[in-house]
Amino acid sequence: MIRKCLFPAAGYGTRFLPATKSIPKEMLPIISKPLMQYGVEEALEAGMTDICIVTGRGKRAIEDHFDNNYELEHQIKLSEKKIKLNGINKLIDDCKFSYTRQKEMKGLGHAVSTGATLVGNEAFGVILSDDLCIGGNGVSLMSTMVELYHEHQCSIIAVMEVPDHQTQNYGIVSGEYISNDLVKISSMVEKPTRNPPSNLAIIGRYILTPDIFDYISQTMPDRNGEIQLTDSLMIQAREKTILAYKFHGVRFDCGRVDEYIKANNFFYEHYYRECKSNCASASVNIVG
Ligand code: G1P
Repeated sequence: MIRKCLFPAAGYGTRFLPATKSIPKEMLPIISKPLMQYGVEEALEAGMTDICIVTGRGKRAIEDHFDNNYELEHQIKLSEKKIKLNGINKLIDDCKFSYTRQKEMKGLGHAVSTGATLVGNEAFGVILSDDLCIGGNGVSLMSTMVELYHEHQCSIIAVMEVPDHQTQNYGIVSGEYISNDLVKISSMVEKPTRNPPSNLAIIGRYILTPDIFDYISQTMPDRNGEIQLTDSLMIQAREKTILAYKFHGVRFDCGRVDEYIKANNFFYEHYYRECKSNCASASVNIVG
């Protein structure tokens, strides 16, 4: 069983200033639900009930969101609006939340290693809330990755094909196809400025074996002084098998303003409008 899912959530979200001056970027809504809630729903759907969040300064709204608000519930308890809290209340009931703070921003590898104290010595999921992924056939991306983990017992990374001009924005992997959608990774480069090894870009879903923490501690900082998870995974890939799973669902990189708007439009068109006319909760989900 993979019980734990780590959410690095210490970043500033400068692309959304001034909104993110006092609101964590993970709390920006897609329609009426914060980005991070979609991620936690995806983790729970995949059976991960221990939600481990790496926060930083100015992120207290995350803790408040995943906690009861008795005053609010009291205020709306006799109105039909209370149904709007059903989704978040289910997460609060079904998951355990724990937090640790990243004191300085030193890259995704550093954020993940900060979470070691919450994760312990077991395989765990990682979800980057910015990446909103909608799986097909009613199955979320993380659920598919958990199944693959059970079969292969190694670190699994989700990837998607991106156009050539976008490879510089992502970790890029290459390797040998062992089936239609699975690649045994032999090379990984974080945001290559030239000669990307392929156009398979890492998207924000990982299942990591706990030895990743040793590999992170062996990782040299990049030229900006950041410890990149991609570099740590490359060390792991030299010694062990790591698989990349090619995701064919819908994904929005909500760290970018244009994709954030597209995600809002997508959810409005596909879920919210129809749902609103049929049910008061207008809850939108991460499985398509
Ligand atoms: C991070 C990872 C990168 C990955 C991306 C996915 O980059 O370092 O390898 O492709 O997430 O969104 P960031 O977006 O934090 O710069």
